[in-house]
Amino acid sequence: MLKKLFGGLGSAEQFEIPEHDSPLFQDIQWDRLPRHVAVIMDGNGRWATGKGLLRTAGHKAGVKTLKNILKTAIGLNLDALTVYAFSTENWKRPRPEVDFLMQLFADYLTKELQEMHADNVQIHFIGRIDGLPASLQKQMREAEALMCHNTGVKFNVAANYGGQDEILRAVQSLAARAAAGEIQPEQIDEAMLENALDTRGNLPVDLVIRTSGDERLSNFLLWQSAYAEFYFTDVNWPDFTPEDFVKAMIDFAGRNRRFGGLQNK
Ligand code: IPE
Ligand code: IPE
Ligand code: MG
Repeated sequence: MLKKLFGGLGSAEQFEIPEHDSPLFQDIQWDRLPRHVAVIMDGNGRWATGKGLLRTAGHKAGVKTLKNILKTAIGLNLDALTVYAFSTENWKRPRPEVDFLMQLFADYLTKELQEMHADNVQIHFIGRIDGLPASLQKQMREAEALMCHNTGVKFNVAANYGGQDEILRAVQSLAARAAAGEIQPEQIDEAMLENALDTRGNLPVDLVIRTSGDERLSNFLLWQSAYAEFYFTDVNWPDFTPEDFVKAMIDFAGRNRRFGGLQNK
């Protein structure tokens, strides 16, 4: 039945935010949901080449998945959804693919801005934003400003993002403050470092989802995922449905998180 609901989602059909009592959510344990979910949206290229299409067709198809997963995250009332859109390593790809992705981000922002705002989303970009095309940077800043007073899901988009790069930048900013005499080196604690990361203000990541079969972090949210649960699926990102996302939530609800202790609930 869920296949029926989501399998035939054509471009003319609109996937609405699912209600609390939606059949999609029937097996959700509301008191055992992750608060912060991070997604490594992988497999666009494999999805496309498997169909005899150009890799770029996979990226385009992946945008629709992202829109539906954001709506699902809103329906679940998650605190934050952080998605990996472009890594600091992705510049190694052929120039036309990189250019296509940058244009896709710009188009996504233009097209989806008002709807995300109406959905009360707080968008935020993480990563080395100053390394992106100037016009895209401007769009990103404007989108953040537009939605900065919203109170719904925190939607963090990682663009030109690397976990190591983020930690380095945080350390540099703290070192600069120490050198200026504003703080003492021994004052630097976990909270201070966390506050110097791009994700400041977010809760720690509870669940990392990676699509398309590979089981690695690829430099995503290294600090923030210290105690995250991991969920891997072979489904390629363009084929990943709200039903698949819900499956990950149900799997998470069954995990026993001990955080180093002995608690067994
Ligand atoms: C993820 O899909 C999207 C980005 C990294 C931008 P890929 O493009 O990595 O797809 P595969 O892994 O090659 O199939
Ligand atoms: C991770 O996927 C980055 C994004 C999803 C944006 P990659 O496809 O770049 O990761 P590797 O190269 O397989 O580790
Ligand atoms: Mg990949």
